[in-house]
Amino acid sequence: MDTNSVSKLLLVLLLTVLFAGFELIHCNVSYDRKALLINGQRRVLISGSIHYPRSTPEMWEDLIQKAKHGGIDVIDTYVFWDVHEPSPGNYNFEGRYDLVRFIKTVQKLGLYANLRIGPYVCAEWNFGGIPVWLKYVPGISFRTDNGPFKDAMQGFTKKIVQMMKSEKLFQSQGGPIILSQIENEYGPESGALGGAGHAYINWAAKMAVGLDTGVPWVMCKETDAPDPVINSCNGFYCDDFSPNKPYKPSIWTESWSGWFTEFGGPVHQRPVEDLAFAVARFIQKGGTFVNYYMYHGGTNFGRSAGGPFITASYDYDAPIDEYGLIRQPKYSHLKDLHEAIKRCEHALVSSDPTITSLGTFQQAHVFSSKTGGCAAFLANYHAQSAARVTFYNRKYDLPPWSISILPDCKADVFNTAKVRVRTSKVQMIPVNLKLFSWETYDEDLSSLAESSRITAPGLLEQLNVTRDSSDYLWYITSVDISSSESFLGGGHQPSINVQSAGHGIHVFVNGQYSGSAFGAKEQRSCKFNGPVSLHAGTNKIALLSVTVGLQNVGRHYETWKTGISGPVLLQGLDHGQKDLTSNRWSYQVGLKGEAMNLVSPNGASSVDWIQESLATQSRSQLKWHKAYFNTPEGNEPLALDLGSMGKGQVWINGQSIGRYWLAYAKGDCNSCSYSGTFRPVKCQLGCGQPTQRWYHVPRSWLKPTKNLIVVFEELGGNPWKISLVKRMVHTARVHSEPDSEN
Ligand code: GAL
Repeated sequence: MDTNSVSKLLLVLLLTVLFAGFELIHCNVSYDRKALLINGQRRVLISGSIHYPRSTPEMWEDLIQKAKHGGIDVIDTYVFWDVHEPSPGNYNFEGRYDLVRFIKTVQKLGLYANLRIGPYVCAEWNFGGIPVWLKYVPGISFRTDNGPFKDAMQGFTKKIVQMMKSEKLFQSQGGPIILSQIENEYGPESGALGGAGHAYINWAAKMAVGLDTGVPWVMCKETDAPDPVINSCNGFYCDDFSPNKPYKPSIWTESWSGWFTEFGGPVHQRPVEDLAFAVARFIQKGGTFVNYYMYHGGTNFGRSAGGPFITASYDYDAPIDEYGLIRQPKYSHLKDLHEAIKRCEHALVSSDPTITSLGTFQQAHVFSSKTGGCAAFLANYHAQSAARVTFYNRKYDLPPWSISILPDCKADVFNTAKVRVRTSKVQMIPVNLKLFSWETYDEDLSSLAESSRITAPGLLEQLNVTRDSSDYLWYITSVDISSSESFLGGGHQPSINVQSAGHGIHVFVNGQYSGSAFGAKEQRSCKFNGPVSLHAGTNKIALLSVTVGLQNVGRHYETWKTGISGPVLLQGLDHGQKDLTSNRWSYQVGLKGEAMNLVSPNGASSVDWIQESLATQSRSQLKWHKAYFNTPEGNEPLALDLGSMGKGQVWINGQSIGRYWLAYAKGDCNSCSYSGTFRPVKCQLGCGQPTQRWYHVPRSWLKPTKNLIVVFEELGGNPWKISLVKRMVHTARVHSEPDSEN
């Protein structure tokens, strides 16, 4: 090697060492009492939750790009253990579950990530994100100082951290992850569980910190978060929040942008004026990290919805709607807010606010940095009256319940109550109507008891039998009625009375459908009582118990029961009643159609479907329907209008678009809840309408032609009226500035 080559080599080595050193020094995240510090710089960060399995990989880049354009710095997601480890030791990180691809997309677009590993996540997700099989590990008790639970939790957390590390995704390695979360809203549990709760949360903190990610950990809604873990706030407002130690920053992990929906409940809306007010108020008090939960809510595909009774739509009234389109005025008003806050960033992180009164209900929060920067937030807390205030010799008009932001302590660049964008106009436009030509296959009830491999005296708890492999469990028994029981000849009709712990039941007697009953989110149990036709001899009772998403929150929810709990009574017999509760029952997990995989293109061709017209419809209650359709032109998002249907599930080319149910909104709707003021925090709408009528069909699941749609319908809905629709959204700026964000 000549001297030239040697010096070149030395130069390369030197640069490598310097560069590595540069990385080590500069790629780190820490915190102080004011803010998170990234590469030594205090930052004010705006974050938005987008949960990767609630959209498709084909949508991710566009969603994250829109978030970036909306002024979002950080993408926040939970990690969903149940989908990643469907059975012990078998992992799935493919397709919608490709967490690495999701985080790399965040990185590609130049944003940061907050990885909320949980692994308990709540999130209106099936079983709170914990795999159902974990419930059956001997001696386990969830989310407490319990060896088997802690072992499993540590195993999964470690696996995720290792996966992120090996892809160099933590900021300490040059990646986008600046923050991670362990557990989720453990505060209320910890209080109630006493010593065991404290021991568990201390263990969780130590375990997480020991994984050495090089970025801080947070625990949301956990005032006892042990050092160095940061405790953070969740709620509609967080202005009363302070961290549990004076040296930790104020972080708001869930600023609720709207709310989730449950079948049979109203649709919720969070007015953007109030949301912006809440965020500005948090920042003016010294908060430096706000995450919108959700920024894009998306869809609970398949059986991923929790609850029970959470809808397939997880739209959440978020700034980006379920379909990936921008929702106005929420999106742009928040974008304007973020721009205003960003212009104050230097002053915000450099000083504590000086608070002065500008009137009985008015205040100024002033941040002045040593280098001369000044930013002010002028607030009017009066919920009904506007105010004219004087600040540094200038006059400012403040609408009721609003905050104005002055990045230079002079110009009022943004007010939380002054919305400059009109509400989006949403249209669901039918397409392709004629392409549906339906065929039907009746779910076979004829050989239920014979094909059953499980029998037991008495009634079994549903999850113990199904392990959640299906929503459905048949409970089958028979009862002998002697011909001497004279009711058979006339007089009154006997009835059947069935009690279920949740969530719903369909009752069949001698193959005839008698009726159904369903619980609700807050009242999971239900009871069926209806007339039945019995005959002399053996009568067959078949009860189809249905779950509608497993419980995702509540103390030791893993022990809560589902399925027919009893009693099961035949009443109105001449000899009184017959109690069938302790009979010998046979069980069949799932539907025959599920076992035959009718939903997949291959399975669907394995049975003879009947070309049914409305006129020749069979009277069977539980039906499979299938049809084919071609993909409509264009790139607008698509949905199925299921307004004519009852309840069930839909698959497109073998992929489930979720559970559907045309349950009509009742109860607390057409009203708002207030924050102790006169300003609505959240409003309930849609009384008398189905909670969810349109169901998102991701375009990436479609082929140009001959797409297979399969529907399983439980309540006699009419598939002939299903239509495919395009979602179109139009918005315009107020003051006649034309601006269509889509
Ligand atoms: C929070 C929880 C979230 C979600 C939210 C309601 O308390 O942390 O996971 O369930 O409530 O949407």
